[in-house]
Amino acid sequence: MIPSNIFSPGGPAARQIAAFGWLTLILFSVITLVMWLLILWVSARRRGTLTEHLPWNARDTLAMRWIFVGGLAVPAIVLTVLFALSLRTMAAFPLDGGHDEHDEHRPPAIRVTGHQWWWEVQYLRSPEDQQVTTANEIHIPVGQPIDIELVSRDVIHSFWVPQLHGKVDLVPGMINRIRIQADRAGFYGGQCAEYCGTQHAHMGLLIAAEPAAQFERWLTEQRKPATPPVEQEAGLGEQLFMDHQCSLCHTVRGTDAHGQVGPDLTHIGSRHRLAANAFPNDTAHLAAWVTHAQSLKPGSQMPSLTAFDGEQLRALVRYLQELH
Ligand code: CUA
Repeated sequence: MIPSNIFSPGGPAARQIAAFGWLTLILFSVITLVMWLLILWVSARRRGTLTEHLPWNARDTLAMRWIFVGGLAVPAIVLTVLFALSLRTMAAFPLDGGHDEHDEHRPPAIRVTGHQWWWEVQYLRSPEDQQVTTANEIHIPVGQPIDIELVSRDVIHSFWVPQLHGKVDLVPGMINRIRIQADRAGFYGGQCAEYCGTQHAHMGLLIAAEPAAQFERWLTEQRKPATPPVEQEAGLGEQLFMDHQCSLCHTVRGTDAHGQVGPDLTHIGSRHRLAANAFPNDTAHLAAWVTHAQSLKPGSQMPSLTAFDGEQLRALVRYLQELH
């Protein structure tokens, strides 16, 4: 599993949020400690009855002072300071993404569309006919701010990569923005953070941050249509894919499969995980996903395809793995 700890930030936005998180955590820990010490102290040196100590019965002003200082002044100061700091942290991340001195209306690099229960990922900074569509795995160049446009096809989802940024919702009919930046190359795990139906928990994603040259190579590879299978087994697999339901729901660019329901599979073989980050992309899981999707992820749009015999299933999996 990819670690996704909010306290080990991997980019500037997450660092600001983590700093604020630490401050809040430490402050409230100190306050809790002080409160418990006061409670213990009071219990140890208890005198008189509760009635004598009721505020309106208190003879000295000391009791009132405790209430005004400890119950009113201190909380007011602490909460005001935290409120101001949280406003400042929030203002650092405008949701429209456009407050940039250099290019005010920079178009987003990537559009992420939420589906029940997976993420469609489109790379927009290419000529129209070369735009790349992939799913669940977002490659970005390391060290560069990347603007992502967030939209939804069905219900409200929430885009959350804890090591890179806070949560931003994907709302039907609205366009939201988030700007992420990864300082180090590597994988960052993400998760849908807004309950969106039965498989909400299995709506994960993966950010792959790569050095710029490697990222460009990846993008160039992704732009290419699928290469026709060379070996016979994969060829049989392709035929099965086109003749059965697969091609009705999935697109494989360069073939007759133009389905729009499920993820684009043109380069499925190059992805690390399956079914929105739920399983590793290996032979066993790929075969299991084809035949038992409804057991692995009940309620998802992917049906359990039980019509294939062993040989056909192997061919189909082989074909998918060759789609690099
Ligand atoms: Cu999508 Cu929760």
